Amino acid sequence: MSQDLAPLYTPHIATLRERANKALALGGFDHLLVAASTPLRKFLDDQDYPFVANPHFRHWLPLTDAPGSWVVYTPGNKPKLIFVQPRDYWHVVPAAPSGYWVDQFDITIVRTVAEATAALPKGKRAVIAPNCPEIEGVEANNPQVVLDYLHWHRSYKTPYELELMRAASRAGTRAHRAAEKAFRAGESEFGIHMAYLAAARQIDAELPYASIVGLNEHGAVLHYTNFDRTPPKQSRSFLIDAGASAAGYASDITRTYAAAGHAEFQALIDSVEKAQLGFAAKVQAGQSYPELHIHAHHVLADVLREHGVIRMSAESAVQSGVTATFFPHGLGHPIGLQVHDVAGFQANESGGSIPRPEGHPYLRMTRVLEPGMVVTIEPGLYFIDMLLDELRSKPAASEIDWAKVDAFRPYGGIRIEDDVVCTTTAPENLTRDAFAKVS
Ligand code: GLY
Ligand code: MN
Ligand code: MN
Repeated sequence: MSQDLAPLYTPHIATLRERANKALALGGFDHLLVAASTPLRKFLDDQDYPFVANPHFRHWLPLTDAPGSWVVYTPGNKPKLIFVQPRDYWHVVPAAPSGYWVDQFDITIVRTVAEATAALPKGKRAVIAPNCPEIEGVEANNPQVVLDYLHWHRSYKTPYELELMRAASRAGTRAHRAAEKAFRAGESEFGIHMAYLAAARQIDAELPYASIVGLNEHGAVLHYTNFDRTPPKQSRSFLIDAGASAAGYASDITRTYAAAGHAEFQALIDSVEKAQLGFAAKVQAGQSYPELHIHAHHVLADVLREHGVIRMSAESAVQSGVTATFFPHGLGHPIGLQVHDVAGFQANESGGSIPRPEGHPYLRMTRVLEPGMVVTIEPGLYFIDMLLDELRSKPAASEIDWAKVDAFRPYGGIRIEDDVVCTTTAPENLTRDAFAKVS
């Protein structure tokens, strides 16, 4: 892969330098200092939580395991990497820098975090780092004007970033195939998860988010993160929301399956999938994402009606909040260096916030789509006891076929999620393209 990345990486760094020049000028800063950050220590313990490098650091470099290191950029100069390579026989020491990216940096190797901070330039510094854990010897200031500018522009992925997101999608879809196979073989949620990790060739800590692996009713828990060790007597349905990472970039993929012989639930899955593909096709420049989300409510209302779950019109199902019972989350979110990427609500490069449409508190993206943005498209229909109980006491309850609801409850729910790039022409569906490539 690195062969292909080399020609993309040089212009990527040129773009980041331009953005940093502007962001620093806006805040009147001389230097941009980006900490990889250091691991967070567990309370009253000598163990750390898994290390996750600052996404701003990963934007510059494909280094996900470089605690204590820094990227230093001073406009007009080549970016610097201050790389911590400790003298340590207890842990694996990060390998000396090598690969397609090293030519773009002046690299200084130091032995300790303290030596790294001592090597940082003085002057007016924008220090992008977490406040916790504090890095001794340097104070993070995370200037809002700098962050706003950088976050806004992080929405527009460079060709280099898109290539890494394709790789993350390939790893994810390869693992999804293995998970489906494990489900069809009658594995437990735990067993399916193990098959997923093995096929992704990633450990849990390397994944961009905690996988959701739910059999039967567990599909109705939106963020179900238990892993039952024993399989249920009968596996009727399977919802898996799981991604993979590539050099710090994320994929976020959901599929839902029905076991053989469960034709009615399979038909509902097919309808949600058809709707989902329609929404993905609308990832086009100029499309308002919140309008697409509202459109999804109408289309899903029609799906519920076609399958006999509701008797009312799509319009009144949306108006009365009935669709929110069955589709109680947002249509999707920006994705990139973080699974829920930055700037989903940002009004412009100076900050600001675009509010969510009223009555849609969980939508994570309120912007108009533009070329270079990558968003997820993840509609769902669920049979969630808590929300169904609330619906039972509303006037709209008479428009629901409760016997049909009861027939679907043992299947939990359906979500289908792809990662889609907005381009100047047709959308690029990273997930579908990757599934097409795995056997
Ligand atoms: N996997 C988290 C999400 O879909 O947003
Ligand atoms: Mn998602
Ligand atoms: Mn997801």
